[in-house]
Amino acid sequence: MHLELIKLEKTFNASILTKINDLLLAQYQIELWMKRDDLLHPVISGNKWRKLKYIIDHALSSGADTLVSMGGAYSNHLHALAYVGKVLGLKTIGLVRGEQPETLTPTLQDMKNWGMELEFVSRADYRLLRQYKNWHDLPGLKPRQYWVPEGGAQTLALKGVAELVAEIGIPCDTLCVPCGTATTLTGIIEAVPQQMSVLGFAAFKHADYLTAEVDAVLSQSRNNWQINLGYHFGGFAKINLELSAFIEDFELKTTIPLDLVYTGKMMYAIYDLIQKHYFKPGERIIAVHTGGLQGKRGFS
Ligand SMILES: Cc1ncc(COP(=O)(O)O)c(C=O)c1O
Repeated sequence: MHLELIKLEKTFNASILTKINDLLLAQYQIELWMKRDDLLHPVISGNKWRKLKYIIDHALSSGADTLVSMGGAYSNHLHALAYVGKVLGLKTIGLVRGEQPETLTPTLQDMKNWGMELEFVSRADYRLLRQYKNWHDLPGLKPRQYWVPEGGAQTLALKGVAELVAEIGIPCDTLCVPCGTATTLTGIIEAVPQQMSVLGFAAFKHADYLTAEVDAVLSQSRNNWQINLGYHFGGFAKINLELSAFIEDFELKTTIPLDLVYTGKMMYAIYDLIQKHYFKPGERIIAVHTGGLQGKRGFS
């Protein structure tokens, strides 16, 4: 790995695994732990560094001086990329979904402050950008520009995600993770032993295609995982009072902050499934906190 990346990684906090103490868990005889990747770094937290690390290493090896990527106005991915670019002295270009807002969102403002060039693209054009999956794929890419697909969904990301699994260090029955592109889920499935179950939770509606996408990327077919589609709360970044009340209550009980888009929905789902006896008494579940707390600034 390039020295700049090693140096940056040295500034990260150590991995923390927290046991959740809750009467409900005791009642259902479930042991629930949380892998606190939200605490890894103040900006590049959660799954962001996991996915970006080897992609950026490859970009540097390819002689890139500019990282180009895409995301929404509250994108955790673009936010992290802009920050890494600033730290490493790389130029960054963010293709942002939708019209330029009159006032930049706090996420976009941070990105701009860190030197990212923002280009707003229509929703239709944004959807088309999703077809470009490889680093040299984006039409019109200039020499030394390196394309990072939406959410860092590249096979190079899987290697970084595997490091998360290696840090866990205790056995468990089920490892849970929220899904957007399901890249983090794929990396986890590749890294866990076959006897461990992996459960992904889709953060958006109509995500049934994700299973086939994950299957296509896996190095071998496995039957120890699935994606639950039942807890999207109406769509990506859609929330309701029940979800926000759950998150508030969870935060009060545990002092662990949750985002509303990914980890919050997953934790709601886990608690709901526990009460529906989905998990067997005596099971140990580990939920991965994928960060994204900066995006909370978008919710009043
Ligand atoms: C905070 C957070 N959690 C989870 C995810 C979903 O990750 P993936 O796209 O790898 O499924 C994302 C998106 O990258 C995210 O920003």
